[in-house]
Amino acid sequence: MRVSVPRESAPGEQRVALTPEAAAKLQSGGFDVVVERGAGVLAGFPDEQYDDRSVELADHDQLLADAEAVLRVRKPAPEELTALRRGTVLIGFLEPLTDAAGVASLRSQGVIAFAMESIPRITRAQSMDALSSQATIAGYKAVILAADRSPKLFPMLMTAAGTVAPARALVLGAGVAGLQAIATARRLGAVVSAFDVRPAVAEQVESLGATFLDLGVRGEETEGGYAQELTEEQQAEQQRALEERLPSFDVVVTTAAVPGRPAPTLIPAEAVDAMRPGSVIVDLAAESGGNCELTEPGREITRAGVTIVGLTNVPSLMAADASRLYARNVTTLLEHLAPGGTLALDFDDEITAGACVTGAPEEGAT
Ligand code: NAI
Repeated sequence: MRVSVPRESAPGEQRVALTPEAAAKLQSGGFDVVVERGAGVLAGFPDEQYDDRSVELADHDQLLADAEAVLRVRKPAPEELTALRRGTVLIGFLEPLTDAAGVASLRSQGVIAFAMESIPRITRAQSMDALSSQATIAGYKAVILAADRSPKLFPMLMTAAGTVAPARALVLGAGVAGLQAIATARRLGAVVSAFDVRPAVAEQVESLGATFLDLGVRGEETEGGYAQELTEEQQAEQQRALEERLPSFDVVVTTAAVPGRPAPTLIPAEAVDAMRPGSVIVDLAAESGGNCELTEPGREITRAGVTIVGLTNVPSLMAADASRLYARNVTTLLEHLAPGGTLALDFDDEITAGACVTGAPEEGAT
């Protein structure tokens, strides 16, 4: 199977779908890999590293002509889509819950598309779970960003000039990103509290040495382990309870999300006004609207001395390791779909059927 890896075209995207190491591993597993020139540069993998591992490099025009599978991080730009032949396998973050039109055009183009977001979160598919690998990176980086923007030290320090109290950090949403944020803030020496609407998370929060904050709001969990959206009353109750507590924190990292829905507003503007100047909010939900009412997606702003970091695509800021983990995820999925380099799609398989967003191809399409 001939596998093409384009250079990412989304603005600001620095990751690459296959690192040189992952590309070479696929080649030794029966695949024929071609990478677009410059695809790995922004992630720290220059062309020479692919070349050193005997991975073919090509210019954009020649990349897709005979591609049987295309591996990407983000969805293709419209002009790239039209260059894909019927029956081509496409794998990437294709935004199936929020970009129905994009998925429809993949389908009408005859592309067999697998969305990394749609891989079932079952034990068997853990090594393909790119939502988790990238959220882990985002959770870590969010705390590093917060520590950088905060005028306060994170650890307690006892010096000849006096004792510095540790920073107090709050993590809202204790899923994959939130748990990594808790662990990172703890490693830096902060005193950490966390909250999630899924009560099952309390034990995990405590096992990381953080305190589970009781805001008096409990949500429901879906079968897939995700949170269900809160009712309006519950959301208002959560905002009120948080507004009371926020002034005692130096740093707040928010990660609350409900798949396919706008991010819940946890921190209204008045709650920001009640925070101490110098406090920092890093809003990892910025991409889906933000958990803070004042978050401006893609920007960092200050309001009454409170810094609100609304950077989107945080994993891309750590492009080397984000790409290494993503490459492992995407490679494992591809090997599942095409063992030994030969496409063998089994739509009775939970992973294949779950991840495919365009439906099984018609007879003879591949
Ligand atoms: P996510 O990114 O969709 O959401 C992040 C967190 O926000 C979740 O923990 C959610 O409960 C929380 N949240 C939603 N609304 C909230 C609100 N109003 N206030 C506070 N918190 C709110 O979820 P993520 O991190 O991608 O994964 C969620 C869960 O999925 C995991 O904790 C786990 O149960 C399950 N999972 C299972 C895996 C497996 O292989 N079995 C792998 C990864 C995740």
